Amino acid sequence: MGSRVVLREIDLEIGPRELIGVLGPNGAGKTTLLRAILGLVPVQNGSLMVFGSAPTTGNAAIGYMPQSRVTADGGRLCGRDIIAAAARGERWGLPWLDLATRRQIDWALERVGASELARRPLAAMSGGERQRLMLAQTLIGQPRLLLLDEPLVNLDPRHQGEMVTLVRELQQDLGITVLFSTHELNPLLGAMDRVLYLGGGQAALGSVDSVINNAVLSRLYGTEIEVIRHRGRYFVMLGNQELDHSNHDDFFEGHHAPV
Ligand SMILES: Nc1ncnc2c1ncn2[C@@H]1O[C@H](COP(=O)(O)OP(=O)(O)OP(=O)(O)O)[C@@H](O)[C@H]1O
Ligand SMILES: [Mg+2]
Repeated sequence: MGSRVVLREIDLEIGPRELIGVLGPNGAGKTTLLRAILGLVPVQNGSLMVFGSAPTTGNAAIGYMPQSRVTADGGRLCGRDIIAAAARGERWGLPWLDLATRRQIDWALERVGASELARRPLAAMSGGERQRLMLAQTLIGQPRLLLLDEPLVNLDPRHQGEMVTLVRELQQDLGITVLFSTHELNPLLGAMDRVLYLGGGQAALGSVDSVINNAVLSRLYGTEIEVIRHRGRYFVMLGNQELDHSNHDDFFEGHHAPV
């Protein structure tokens, strides 16, 4: 971001057709990492390669669902308008949408089960419906990589489960790579191939059990972290506080090296 180092000493490679859960508490650097892949945040030392090249902005091979999304006061725009705006962004300059683009919009809406939302105003949709629409928007342009930043936020457990299942189906059917950021691990269990855990300014990538354990997380944070497993769910504890359920800005402050 120009003023501080958010992540350092990361050396990892993500392969094609992987669904990676990007985990870490508030301020861990999830959004920063996704924005670096989009070419929006500079890499200060070392290199970041996306499909074998340096990141560039406007890469049509990447679909992006940003963390802060259109809210209910998005006005009278209906579902289809939102997707059409993304399609127009792809081929801007055209005052109208050609048949192929209209078909792509229909396809994207159908793929996420949102065809019935096409005519509904955004303001009249539930959080889960809006999130599905935002997912459809990432599919425009047939990307090979989806960067989804906190698609589970504000969803109840049932809708979280539906979103995770939908993303996993899309990822497998379309044979694409997905980076799925979330500060909660449990909803993604069973649906992701590997986990990329960001914490203490560093990262660990691997299977859930090889990353979400006392030794690896304690090394990342530089302090004692305890991972508790209970009924198939994981709880990452710093003392008696659960790490993904509180704000740890103070804790992280000391872990960022100034530039
Ligand atoms: N535009 C910015 N300028 C300076 N620092 C920033 C900027 N955006 C983020 N940061 C800092 O970078 C660090 C990582 O933030 P980032 O948004 O990547 O975390 P995150 O893991 O996405 O957190 P959250 O779970 O809250 O979305 C934080 O300490 C944050 O304060
Ligand atoms: Mg974020």
